[in-house]
This record gives sequence, C-alpha cells and structure tokens, in this order.
Amino acid sequence: MSNKISPSILASDFSSLGEEALSVQDAGADMLHIDVMDGHFVPNITLGAPIVKSLRKRVSLPFDVHLMISDPLKYIPDFAKAGADRITFHLESSSDPAACVALMKELGVESGIALKPGTPGEAVFPFLNKLKMVLVMTVEPGFGGQKFMSDQLEKIKLIRRECDRRGLEMDIQVDGGITDVTMPLCRDAGANVFVAGSYVFGSEDRKKAIDSLK
Ligand code: DX5
Ligand code: ZN
Repeated sequence: MSNKISPSILASDFSSLGEEALSVQDAGADMLHIDVMDGHFVPNITLGAPIVKSLRKRVSLPFDVHLMISDPLKYIPDFAKAGADRITFHLESSSDPAACVALMKELGVESGIALKPGTPGEAVFPFLNKLKMVLVMTVEPGFGGQKFMSDQLEKIKLIRRECDRRGLEMDIQVDGGITDVTMPLCRDAGANVFVAGSYVFGSEDRKKAIDSLK
C-alpha cells in the first residue's frame, strides 16, 4: 500500500487559503485535509461548507473533510454538495453512524469514521465493511500543533489486523502530531494515510516536507 499524504489546512494562513491549498497541491500532496469544528463537539471553531465550496473552484486535490461536529448527519449533504470527496465523522458524535455511512453512499461520497484517543478500536468494527477509511486520532481533536500520542499505535495495529482478516483494503489514517519521526511508527503499525498540519505548513520547503513523509 502506498503512503498518502493529506496536509491539514488548519495549519495554513487562512488569509490566503487558496494559495496555501495550491502550494501543497503543487508540492505533491495526495489529498487536502479540511478540519471542520463546531465549538461544541470540540472547543474550537474553524470553517464550514461555503469555504469548502470556494476552495473547490480553485483546487483539484481530493478533499478529505474531517468533521469534528456534534451532528454530522445534518451537515453531510452540505459538505458533499460543496465538493468533498471523502467525509470522516466521529463515532463519538450524536448522529447514528450507520445512517451517516448510508447517507454518504447515497450522495456518492467516500466515508470514514474517526476515533478519539479514548475510544477503543473495536468500536468501529461493526461498520468496517462499509467504510473507505478509519481515522485514528493521535491527539485529542480540537487543535493543531499537539504532541503525538504513541499509545494509539496499538489501536492502529488492531484495526489493520481486523481489516486484513476480513480481506478489506482499508485506508487507515492518522491525524495529530505527524512528523518524519512519528510517521514511520504509524506506517509500521499499519496506517497508510497521513495527515500533517504544522509539519507541512510550518516548514520552509513544503515539497521537501511532503517528500520526507512519502
Ligand atoms: C486536530 C485536527 C488535525 C490537526 C493536525 O483536531 O484534526 O487535523 O490539523 O495538526 P498537526 O499536524 O499540527 O498536529
Ligand atoms: Zn483532522
């Protein structure tokens, strides 16, 4: 499985969001990670579907939308319409996970489920056969620039083992504190999609940073 890099625009300069997104597209990113926070599910507020729609007009990278919101079922159609290619919602949100996955299928969007650090890996097992991706959070969701939690590596291994046992070609994404040092640990545990915010947007040479993760 090849490594896919999904830079998180949360760490970019929002005053020139279009240029920032294009800079990682030119630098060889595989997708663009878009963090949506509602100030309720997490204590921070970021952006909504109108911004995704504007970005869609200029950026051709697949949009990997990470919903850190309380009621994803209500907003999934807005993000699908705005141009999301893949939408990941949290299993800890208040929406019915099976209904979210079914809705995304109906809308033609790839579906992912995210797990907070305190949620056991087994919790996603009932949904695995219908998913494109599982996101294992390696920090508490809500803010960029936090320290990588290495105790999440076992969860990655557990989920990869279960996917292999079922013969599923699952994307396993990690998000939070990913650098050239923590990425290989996640890859060896079974992850293949790497979100990096500060590491990519904070580096002088974004192409070099993305290449170092590939
Ligand atoms: C955190 C977000 C992450 C964040 C990662 O809640 O989901 O995507 O942008 O940022 P870094 O890579 O700086 O930890
Ligand atoms: Zn994220």
